[in-house]
Amino acid sequence: MAGWRAVVGVGGGIAAYKAAELVRALSQRGIQSTVVMTAAAQEFIRPLTFAALSGRKVITTLFGSTPDEVLASSVEHIAVAREHDILIVAPATADLLGKFANGLADDFLSTLYLAFDRQVLLAPSMNTAMWLHPATQANAAALRARGNVVMEPEAGELACGETGPGRLPEPGRIAEEAHYLLARRHDLDGETVLVTAGPTREPIDPVRFLSNRSSGKMGYALAEAAAWRGARVILVSGPVELEPPLHVELVRVETAREMRDAVLSRLPECSIVIKSAAVADYHVANVPTQKLKKTATRLSLELDPTPDILAECGAEIERAQRGQLLIGFAAETENVVAEARRKLKAKRCHMVVANNVAAEGLGFESDENEVTLVTQAGDVIEVPRASKREIADRILDEALRLRLALYSRS
Ligand code: CTP
Repeated sequence: MAGWRAVVGVGGGIAAYKAAELVRALSQRGIQSTVVMTAAAQEFIRPLTFAALSGRKVITTLFGSTPDEVLASSVEHIAVAREHDILIVAPATADLLGKFANGLADDFLSTLYLAFDRQVLLAPSMNTAMWLHPATQANAAALRARGNVVMEPEAGELACGETGPGRLPEPGRIAEEAHYLLARRHDLDGETVLVTAGPTREPIDPVRFLSNRSSGKMGYALAEAAAWRGARVILVSGPVELEPPLHVELVRVETAREMRDAVLSRLPECSIVIKSAAVADYHVANVPTQKLKKTATRLSLELDPTPDILAECGAEIERAQRGQLLIGFAAETENVVAEARRKLKAKRCHMVVANNVAAEGLGFESDENEVTLVTQAGDVIEVPRASKREIADRILDEALRLRLALYSRS
């Protein structure tokens, strides 16, 4: 656990109850919350809920009723500002955005905002007309110009019955954004990383397809890790059940041919290409336009090979000489390192991430993995069992090291 501390400021909106889910989602990511509620927020939800969820005292007023409380409270916002890494306000009402943008400070949350000199994340929620009003838009723009992150409210049906942008972003998304802001690094600034993920689907007829087992989790973890380290990330994904990480450009594809076209058209702009997709090796030669009927007692499918995208990338990268780094994957059930070496050569990659898919409790659907990195520099690096997200960071660490080793020679 990284031991981050967040102040969660809760504004007085109908979505105030969702801040409780946010506190929980933050805690699942190892981020501890101190909750500050405005007076209006307390009309919607009781402080006790937040005290129970955060395990800490909830701050509800700027001043207390006794002289001691008043004295303590008059400096508390400064202490709170210094002790926390991020200020998250959810829901950020139109009133709060207006106060923050203009430096008004008449309660604990608005005084804390002025005293807070680290990352600020604002998650607005209000009626659509209020959000779109030029005054609110100008406030949001002013806050963004100041370096605050103002999330876009989600579109949908609002409590007032109207439809449009104004819903609080999902608490899980707010927590993800906060985690990103706290954890991001800059060693991939200026890089463009393309990641392929998930399986491809090759149609047999309009209702059936051939595919590979692949959850896409490893590829999505790589895309997130690269984005959190400052890269521009293009995620070319086959059909999977996962939410795309924040801050990546998602390109959805179905077939190997579509994946090939998506990857090759973007290849020139990429500095690192990571091919974690489980591409189908064959596709049906002639796909009928109508559904196949169950009339035959035995059915044979005639299959042609799909394009080997990794090999095509390898050839193109070698030809173009732009110093791009190519990383392939090898899902093996035996002779893992030897097979990885063979693919490294045959497909002209700089690194192959080999995983033994026969290993107990790992691979496909699992959130964990254990891999061996085989590099063109001749290294064989065992990465012990860890979460796919941690493995992703290790792969990127080794990729950067390898690139230095390979390209500093020339
Ligand atoms: N790959 C690809 N295009 C294909 C098949 C595979 O780009 N048509 C890529 C995968 O994304 C992965 C790597 O090649 O990065 C290795 O995939 P794998 O299926 O293990 O290798 P194959 O070449 O299919 O070898 P084999 O099936 O003989 O083990």
